Amino acid sequence: MRLLARPSGPIRGRIRPPGDKSISHRALIVGALAPGTTDIEGLLEGDDVLRTAAAMRMFGAGVERTGDRRWRVTGGPWQAPTAPVDFGNSGTGVRLTMGAGAAFPIAATYTGDASLSRRPMARIFTPLEAMGARCNAQGGGLLPATVHGGALKATAYDSPHASAQIKSAVLLAALGADGETRVSEPAPSRDHTERMLAAFGARVTSATRADGRHEIGIVGRPVLQARPVRVPADPSSAAFAAAAALIVAGSDLTLDDVLLNPLRTGFFDTVAEMGGGIDVIDRRDAGEPVGALCVRYASLRGVAPPASRSAAMIDEFPILAALAAFAEGETVLSGAAELRVKESDRIALMVEGLRACGVDCEERPDGLVVQGCGARGVRGGAEIRTHGDHRIAMSFLILGLGAQAPVSVDEAEMIATSFPDFAGFMQSLGADIVAS
Ligand code: S3P
Repeated sequence: MRLLARPSGPIRGRIRPPGDKSISHRALIVGALAPGTTDIEGLLEGDDVLRTAAAMRMFGAGVERTGDRRWRVTGGPWQAPTAPVDFGNSGTGVRLTMGAGAAFPIAATYTGDASLSRRPMARIFTPLEAMGARCNAQGGGLLPATVHGGALKATAYDSPHASAQIKSAVLLAALGADGETRVSEPAPSRDHTERMLAAFGARVTSATRADGRHEIGIVGRPVLQARPVRVPADPSSAAFAAAAALIVAGSDLTLDDVLLNPLRTGFFDTVAEMGGGIDVIDRRDAGEPVGALCVRYASLRGVAPPASRSAAMIDEFPILAALAAFAEGETVLSGAAELRVKESDRIALMVEGLRACGVDCEERPDGLVVQGCGARGVRGGAEIRTHGDHRIAMSFLILGLGAQAPVSVDEAEMIATSFPDFAGFMQSLGADIVAS
C-alpha cells in the first residue's frame, strides 16, 4: 500500500497520540510474569504490541482486551509454547521476551518477519548464555532461534551498546537467577523496565560507576505483585505530529499526555536548540513524567546535537533528519551507528530519500549531515522506498506536508506496527495524507 502526502494547510488541534510502545510491551510482559491480575490502560494497539500480547498467551498468561486500549493480563510461571512464537517486525517484543523466557526451565523458538530476521540477536544471546541459557540461532545470531532457559546464575554483564533492549533482556532473565545480577551500559538508555519491575516489587538499583558506565542491579527471584499500569502517549509518535506543526506555516498543535521521561526527550531538546519553541503544560507524575506539548510553526536553524544525546532520541533520527531539511544551515547528526541495525538501515534510507526530495546530504558511518533548504523550501516530489520501515515512511510523509511537491511512500501498511491509523490521525489535524 502507498500513501501520499501533499503540501498541506496548517496543522491544528488538540489530541492525544497513541500509547507508548516501549511501556506497552513491558506492561504485557511484566504483567505476564506477575501472579495475579494486571489491568493496563492506554495500551498501544499497534501490530508490534499485539504480537507481544499473543506471545504472552503462548507462554500461558491470560490476556484479554477489556475495552478500548484496556487490557487485562493474568500472570504466573511461564509454560513452553507449543509452536514457534512469531514477533513479526518487533525487535523489542522478541528481545525482551527471549530474556524473560530464559528465566524458566522451558525451550521456546522465536521467529519474525524479513526485517526482524536480518537484525542482530547475538547481543541478547551473549549475556543469556553467560547466565546459563542455551541459544541456538540461524547463522550464529539471527532468527529463527531457540532459547533453552532455567537454572540461571546471576552475572555481571557490560553491554557494548547503550541499548534498552539488551539491558531489559538481562534484567528480565535475572528475575529467575539467585542473587544480584548487574548490567552496565556505556550511557543510560530508556529505563522503563527498571521502573516497572521496581513498581511490581523487584529490588532494582542504578548508579554511575567510577569508569563512567551506567549500571543497574536487580535481585533475582522477587515476589512480583500485579498492579495497574497506565500507559502515557508515545513521545516517538508525538514527534511526527510535532514535526508537521513545526514545518507547516500557521500550525498550532497541542499533544496531550505525552511521556516526558528524560531518557526519551532528546528530540524535543534538539528541536528547542533549532529554534522551535515547544511549551510544556500540564506537567505531572503519572508513574512516569508526562505533560502536554504545545507546538507552533517556527523557522528552524541547523544544529549539531551532542552524540551523548543519541540514546534519548534513537528512534527520532529519521524525523529529525527530515526536520533538518527545512532548517536554515547545516545539521550534523552523529553517535547513532545503531540506526544501521534498526527495522532498516535508517542512515542509508534517510540519505537516499532526502536526496530524492532535492535535499543535499552526506552519509556518515554513525549519522548524516543535512544541508537545510531554509527559505528556499524543500522540493519534495519523490517516491520513497521505505524497506518496510514504519519510521522512514512516517518521516517522509511529514516531509511531504511541508514540501513544494507531494511525496509518496511504499509499504505504508507497516506504519501500523507503531502508529495505528497514522493517516487518519494526521488528517484530523489538517494534514493532506491519502492512499495513492
Ligand atoms: C526500545 C529500545 C530501542 C528503540 C526501540 C524500543 C525499547 O532499541 O530503538 O524502538 O523499548 O527498549 P535499542 O535498545 O536496541 O536501542
